Amino acid sequence: MSFSCKKYTAKVLDRQAPSAKLHVTGRCKMPTREDALALVKSKVDNKNLVKHMLSAEAIMRALAKKFSENEELWGLAGLVHDVDYVQTEKDPKNHAKIGAKLLSELGYPKEVSQAVMAHNPENGSIMETLMDKALYVSDPLTGLIVACALIHPDKKLSSIDTEFVLSRFKEKRFAAGANREQIASCCGIGLSLEEFVSLGLEAMKGISKELGL
Ligand SMILES: [Fe+2]
Repeated sequence: MSFSCKKYTAKVLDRQAPSAKLHVTGRCKMPTREDALALVKSKVDNKNLVKHMLSAEAIMRALAKKFSENEELWGLAGLVHDVDYVQTEKDPKNHAKIGAKLLSELGYPKEVSQAVMAHNPENGSIMETLMDKALYVSDPLTGLIVACALIHPDKKLSSIDTEFVLSRFKEKRFAAGANREQIASCCGIGLSLEEFVSLGLEAMKGISKELGL
């Protein structure tokens, strides 16, 4: 199955405001990565979900580096993006809304809470920045890559490559929860599917120990 980038972009991304460079100004203290990880662990007791957020962080950092954006800021957004998951598991319309509010109250940069909020279009939010869109496309890629590693006999990320992930991508029923259209909307941030999968896979390989894969 192939996805039309133009079609998908028209449906989901074109109606959004043009992406904007992020500006981090006038802030005294941005929560550190350690703060963010402690927050996530205090709210989420599911280890696999924490690993999912660590994976999103790694991919967001790699994307920020590729686009010469703020790696700390983008990484933070990935790391905390599902902080309200336990609270909103059965309430998708509020997923990420509650998390974004919590992050704002805790002094996280507006760009982070906005990206967190916008990664779930079901809550009525709209992606505005490149960072918002990057988080949206990174979210489901983590699950596809983990599923690919787990079907390999040694269950290691080091044993799979981009070609393998791309071939599984085409199998609709494999890791069906990893939304293919959402992943394919990486064209909206200027990356081909192959480039995005390759970047995501390398990023996750970089934290394979933490992921236990
Ligand atoms: Fe997520």
